[in-house]
Amino acid sequence: MKKKPWSGRFEKETNRLVEEFTASISFDKRLYKYDIEGSIAHCMMLAKCKIIKSGEADKIIKGLSDIKKEIDGGRFKFDISLEDIHMNIEKRLIDKIGVVGGKLHTARSRNDQVALDIRLYLRDEIGEIVSLIRGLKKAIVKKAKGNIDVIMPGYTHLQMAQPVLFSHHLLAYYDMFVRDEDRFLDMLKRVNVMPLGSAAMAGTNYPIDRKYVAKLLGFTDITTNSMDAVGDRDFSIEFLSASAILMMHLSRLSEELIIWSTSEFGFIEIDDSFCTGSSIMPQKKNPDVPELVRGKTGRVYGNLMSLLTTMKSLPLAYNKDMQEDKEPVFDTVDTVKASLSIYSKMIGTIKLNRDRLREAVFQGFMTATDMADYLVMKGLPFRDAHEVVGRVVSFYIKSHKVLSDLNLHELQRFSNGFKKDIFNFIKVEKSVDRKDVIGGTSKKQVLKRLTEIEKTIKD
Ligand code: ARG
Repeated sequence: MKKKPWSGRFEKETNRLVEEFTASISFDKRLYKYDIEGSIAHCMMLAKCKIIKSGEADKIIKGLSDIKKEIDGGRFKFDISLEDIHMNIEKRLIDKIGVVGGKLHTARSRNDQVALDIRLYLRDEIGEIVSLIRGLKKAIVKKAKGNIDVIMPGYTHLQMAQPVLFSHHLLAYYDMFVRDEDRFLDMLKRVNVMPLGSAAMAGTNYPIDRKYVAKLLGFTDITTNSMDAVGDRDFSIEFLSASAILMMHLSRLSEELIIWSTSEFGFIEIDDSFCTGSSIMPQKKNPDVPELVRGKTGRVYGNLMSLLTTMKSLPLAYNKDMQEDKEPVFDTVDTVKASLSIYSKMIGTIKLNRDRLREAVFQGFMTATDMADYLVMKGLPFRDAHEVVGRVVSFYIKSHKVLSDLNLHELQRFSNGFKKDIFNFIKVEKSVDRKDVIGGTSKKQVLKRLTEIEKTIKD
């Protein structure tokens, strides 16, 4: 059992069960790099403000750099009785350089220290997540470009609705990921604020220079209220919330890929190298990757709920409850990064079954809306045209036909507005190309969008 930093006030040693229960070292050791980076900046500031001597600061900084190497190299022994990463590092520092190591914690508390560590950590991870989103966006663009001529059924209510370009469908996800990227970049403004100097909750008695620490660590701002600074986890909640939305998008794409690769749909095939088989049914090829991403969306939502609930009703300022903030964040970082990485690779392996898609676009009377618009062009009010085409569709369904089986004679029984040119008008290609509005599915518009996107793609 290690002597605790607070042992002065205590007459008894901590119960082992309490040590185990309150320790966070098993998971917060992940923050060591940021803890050391923050401590070095803090120490430099203490020396600059003459709160400690510069010789002392040199020793502390050297000690901290050596500890970082020990942890990097797996040679550091984490001790549960030292509770968390902050105390593990501090104790090791004192063991290595002697009592001068005890000066590092001047004008600081673990409360502002941990807030700093998570902010530094999230800042890095957000950067990585943003570049993974960009990778996925690129993979989507490439797939969309390579299949620009493919028409597929578009759905509403999962019922065939209108023909669309496959590229248009895929680029809908591109737009979702643009918003995700924006959300992560925007939250950086609020993550990138330096809390150190708030100390336990009230600020500190020492003449510190908070702006100098912020500058050393590359923060754009410093917090303006010490109580909020140690009691705030909004930035983590925002991170979890943006991650939940991103995973929701991935889960929707996953669902589509899963449906499209069933033999009933048969629109796509995900490469063998990204699928798995069944241990009992030899014929099976399962889309495990999208299924798992869809499944993992649940744990990311759970992580958001978990931290929101932890923070609910907490009085100011720091409360030990807040130690529960880290695991949901770490788990989310891992899940989001793994999902994005595998997705960018998998998208490229998807093959379209063009014959099957071609067949599918002729089913479901998908150009019925065009047929109504045709009648409108010939002078019918839209409501009447809708009614006529409804009857045409119902007739063809009853006689087990599809729109391509139409003959003019039959059609004219429903309206004498139908002329020979109706057949050309309701061709799927024509239907698609007539959707020539900004944001529409015509080839011209989708190509225009692709050009626009390519201009914005950053490396
Ligand atoms: N391990 C703690 C956490 O993660 C660090 C801050 C502890 N502060 C305290 N006064 N117990 O929240």
